[in-house]
Amino acid sequence: MLSNSLKYAGIIATGSYMPDNILTNFDLEQMVDTNNEWIISRTGIEERRITGDDMATSDIATKAALNALYNAGMSPEEIDLIIVATITPDMAFPSTACIVQKNIGAKNAAAFDLGAACSGFMYGITVAEKFIKTGYYKNIMVIGAETLSKILDYTDRNTCVLFGDGAGAVIISEVEEGYGVLSSCMGANGYDGHLLTLPAGGSRRPASVETIEERLHYIKMDGSEVFKFAIKTMGQAAEDALEKCGLTKEDVDFLIPHQANTRIIDSAVKRLKISQERVYINLNKYGNMSAASIAVALDEANQKQLLKDGDVVVLVGFGAGLTWGSAVLKWKNYRR
Ligand code: ACO
Repeated sequence: MLSNSLKYAGIIATGSYMPDNILTNFDLEQMVDTNNEWIISRTGIEERRITGDDMATSDIATKAALNALYNAGMSPEEIDLIIVATITPDMAFPSTACIVQKNIGAKNAAAFDLGAACSGFMYGITVAEKFIKTGYYKNIMVIGAETLSKILDYTDRNTCVLFGDGAGAVIISEVEEGYGVLSSCMGANGYDGHLLTLPAGGSRRPASVETIEERLHYIKMDGSEVFKFAIKTMGQAAEDALEKCGLTKEDVDFLIPHQANTRIIDSAVKRLKISQERVYINLNKYGNMSAASIAVALDEANQKQLLKDGDVVVLVGFGAGLTWGSAVLKWKNYRR
């Protein structure tokens, strides 16, 4: 039932799970024509995590979800909705969110997947916030989870060095007035969607011998065009969300950007004039985990107790679509 007054929605707990297997730049040197120096200087990435053949996206999403529930001190039955942001679902259907619902025993939850690529977690936060704000739901789990290693062409050096696997989760619930999500923005530019695609396996080009022979079940990317888009978008999306809640870049205490490339992050940092120690970066360890990147970075920053009560935290990401998303949070540490 809808209540009359709007509520404040915030992140009350975070969790994550990273696969154990590490693939270093030196390992990649043995697999494809690349080298450690090129990867570090062009991207900042040193290593990434890879799930084994026996694990799918729902498996790592489940572990992140259980970790968030534990950190919230909450039972799975208290979750009303599960949103899984991913471009690497276990299969076309059922949704990965429904598989996670079963795995964690969230029997009272609705569940769906959300597809906005690397911006998916930011889109998920915006969607969840609206449901909490209106009183429609009380507790929502938003998960960003990817097994990108399963859709990477390890003969294509333009893409295979960039991405990794991982999962992060948050629980969004009602919080005190003035805290939680102060504003958020979502955007899309489908006109440039061709710059970053997984061409086959959908209804346009169903799987066939031909699509396999043409290696169309792997990520294809025009890296330099995506790079230009990202440079333009990251700072702008962060500024848009700040403006929406009446804050300025001087108010920002902590920035958690999508972890794609240190040069892209640096451009946003420069534009926001924020000092490096107030920016969370883990892409050296994990590479780009698409929808999981911001979720995992947020959990790490939270577990390290870098986020203080009252901090203004900006989350911002961009991705295939093309898409972008940002949010401004007034942080509070909740312990149940
Ligand atoms: N090792 C060695 N050389 C390489 C590698 C590699 N792994 N990859 C590309 N190169 C070569 C290219 O073949 C090219 O060589 P050429 O000039 O002889 O043709 C050259 O390096 C390209 O160099 P640059 O143009 O200088 O590369 P750039 O500085 O643009 O960096 C990169 C490439 C890292 C891909 C960058 O463009 C980038 O980060 N783009 C954004 C990508 C991104 O963030 N995508 C994720 C979106 S998120 C999502 O939704 C999934």
